[in-house]
Amino acid sequence: MRSIKARNLACPIDGARLECREKMQVCENGHAFDIARQGYINLLPVQQKRSKQPGDSKEMVLARAQFLNSGVYGSIASTLAQTVLAQTTGEREICLMDSGCGEGYYLDTLFDQLKIKGGRGDVSFIGLDISKAAIAEAAKRNKQITWIVGTNKQPPVAVASVGIILCVFGFHNFKGFHKVLEVGGKLIVVEPGPDHLQELREIIYSEVKRSEPQNLSYAEDIGYSIQDEQLLKFKTGDINKSQINNLLVMTPHFYKASREGRAAASRLQKLNLTVDVVIRTLEKI
Ligand SMILES: C[S@@+](CC[C@H](N)C(=O)[O-])C[C@H]1O[C@@H](n2cnc3c(N)ncnc32)[C@H](O)[C@@H]1O
Repeated sequence: MRSIKARNLACPIDGARLECREKMQVCENGHAFDIARQGYINLLPVQQKRSKQPGDSKEMVLARAQFLNSGVYGSIASTLAQTVLAQTTGEREICLMDSGCGEGYYLDTLFDQLKIKGGRGDVSFIGLDISKAAIAEAAKRNKQITWIVGTNKQPPVAVASVGIILCVFGFHNFKGFHKVLEVGGKLIVVEPGPDHLQELREIIYSEVKRSEPQNLSYAEDIGYSIQDEQLLKFKTGDINKSQINNLLVMTPHFYKASREGRAAASRLQKLNLTVDVVIRTLEKI
């Protein structure tokens, strides 16, 4: 695989193609977007923001970076890489976009895997997230990836220009993704299975509910077909106090848990957790 710069960025205001001019991305209608000193591009105009700082906070982003860098979810990254590699065997050019990429762990890992084991085609990599803090952190990981602040609701890329979209523990938007996927393009969604982080949930909640991954009938109704479903379940082995704390801070459990639940988690010295995820591949038809 040869990594190339993304050529399909689109203006978030009018959808026109963006071109790089000096330190800006500019569309033919004169809308201009700065390229930040760290290299990322902010394509989230105020009218697409519901709050001043949407998405994950800096604290969540840093906790996630530390947790993921410790390798606990390495098997998720390698299974995801296998799934993507199976879709990129040919010689044609393809755009791979991680939507809701967070601080970039999965996309950066995939970049490395595709470089080593990928096919002969050119690949452009886009990491998209609504959190500026997340994208600023991601931009430190890999300068060859195009990192963008933007929303999954209206990904700022040209219509039908993306070959593969990944959405890992993210806020997927089937309509927004459908618009920018090529016909035959794939959407790979990673979601928690019913037993995900069971042991932690038993400590922080008085009652633990088993929730199944989302039903995909809506996605089928709007023009996807379900191609594949993989279940990945493993035990982490004992993770330490700092990893437990990072895991809590990086997930919504931190806000959902009661004060007593958080206190109980903070007393833990180690925890052997179940990771249970479902990886589903949908095709735009
Ligand atoms: C649970 S985190 C997962 C991050 C990353 N995929 C991972 O697994 O490490 C969800 C991410 O989605 C982002 N997010 C939330 N709403 C979004 C939206 N509408 N568009 C794009 N990203 C969004 C958050 O900022 C956060 O980084």
